[in-house]
Amino acid sequence: MSIEHYEAPVIQKLQGGFMNTYANGNGVRRVCKAIDGVTIDDLVERFGSPLFVFSEQRIRQQYREVYDAFSRHYPNLTLAWSYKTNYLSALCAIMHQEGSIAEVVSDMEYAKARALGIPGDQIIYNGPYKPMPGLERAVCDGAMIQVDHLDEICDLEALCDKIGRRIRVGLRLNLDAGIFPQWSRFGFNLESGQALEAVKRILNGGKLILQGLHCHIGTFILDPKAYARQVEKMVHFAYQLEEQSGFSVEYLDLGGGFPSRNRLKATYLPPEVAVPGIGEFAENIGDALYRTLRPGKFPKLYLEAGRAMIDEAGYLITTIQASKRLVDGTRAYVADAGVNLLFTSFWYKMAIELDREVQGMSENSVVYGPLCMNLDVIDEGTLLPPLKRGTRLIFNPVGAYNNTQWMQFISYRPNVVLIGENGQVEVIREAEDLSDVTLRERLPARLTKGQSE
Ligand SMILES: Cc1ncc(COP(=O)(O)O)c(C=O)c1O
Repeated sequence: MSIEHYEAPVIQKLQGGFMNTYANGNGVRRVCKAIDGVTIDDLVERFGSPLFVFSEQRIRQQYREVYDAFSRHYPNLTLAWSYKTNYLSALCAIMHQEGSIAEVVSDMEYAKARALGIPGDQIIYNGPYKPMPGLERAVCDGAMIQVDHLDEICDLEALCDKIGRRIRVGLRLNLDAGIFPQWSRFGFNLESGQALEAVKRILNGGKLILQGLHCHIGTFILDPKAYARQVEKMVHFAYQLEEQSGFSVEYLDLGGGFPSRNRLKATYLPPEVAVPGIGEFAENIGDALYRTLRPGKFPKLYLEAGRAMIDEAGYLITTIQASKRLVDGTRAYVADAGVNLLFTSFWYKMAIELDREVQGMSENSVVYGPLCMNLDVIDEGTLLPPLKRGTRLIFNPVGAYNNTQWMQFISYRPNVVLIGENGQVEVIREAEDLSDVTLRERLPARLTKGQSE
């Protein structure tokens, strides 16, 4: 005799979806049966769940859309792929095939770019901490070093003495572009005069050659006009330096920060409404450049777009393992992926799609992961229909900052696959097992089992 699953009844307020001008609000009825023609069933059967999936077609399309939008306004443009956004080798290789150079912020990222065959002079080296041996290698390779602070000026001058030649550098600025909180920890502040002092210090040192100016105003910037303000301030500063010291700016690097079609938590409007198109950013930057630059030689423009290039191309498939009713009446689902894999779910409420049509009344639900920690919640406040064990949720966009910030915490990291333009699915990072967790551990002999007895 089979035993029926019993669940105590609850009184549930009927909700036909929250009142919202923009259709179905927080309710999820959208179905995704396939990604780029490959069914979710097939993907999970072959590569397991949870599973990260990337669409090569979408990455290339996104790259071209961003490049075309900006280069239409300012042709002397190079994109620099921001490694920290996602440095899985296959994804970096696609960006480089499309024509991007590399932008790195650490020794490790620098080594990764070099290992992928990117020559030093096509690497922009940013970041507040550049350890000496790696900095020396980058200098000798001809990398574009962006100076972050005075101590780094001293480090670079010491390197000039060591290698017997002058070093070309860019200066990282921070400035008020109307974005709060202001990213003021990196580089030299413009408005306070710190940046001008740094330039004087560089000139007095006589060892470094100032080549360009850099500034990254923040991430997921929703105001395209902020970039116009940034450009105006950077160009005026460049001309101020030209007048005072004969400096001729070879490049302007505006950093990244362009948003993807994602949704920050506590944002009322859906991304289709809240997030300006990339064309608006391109227009604001292009117009500001032509307004402020004097006729003559136009400097090279670098953009270090990260999330806008890859976020939408990434999906996370996760499977419902259990459902329960919490004591406060909330419907809860246990998924096989938690914040260990979906780190950005702390700030973003990604769209969720189901792998099948589901009938029944939607309820305000919480989806939590396998970590046995109260903070392991990957979604809450979404109206979900009753989901059976085995139902798959597809989270998107998740391509930015998850495969770099994920954690080796409690669970293994799963397979990551790439669906090629021909529909072929390839593993680009294998699922971990215990050997990945213990690889670097050393167990002293006296602690091995049996020794203490
Ligand atoms: C210096 C620099 N450039 C580029 C990026 C990429 O930013 P985003 O992903 O917002 O485009 C970052 C990210 O923080 C950064 O610090």
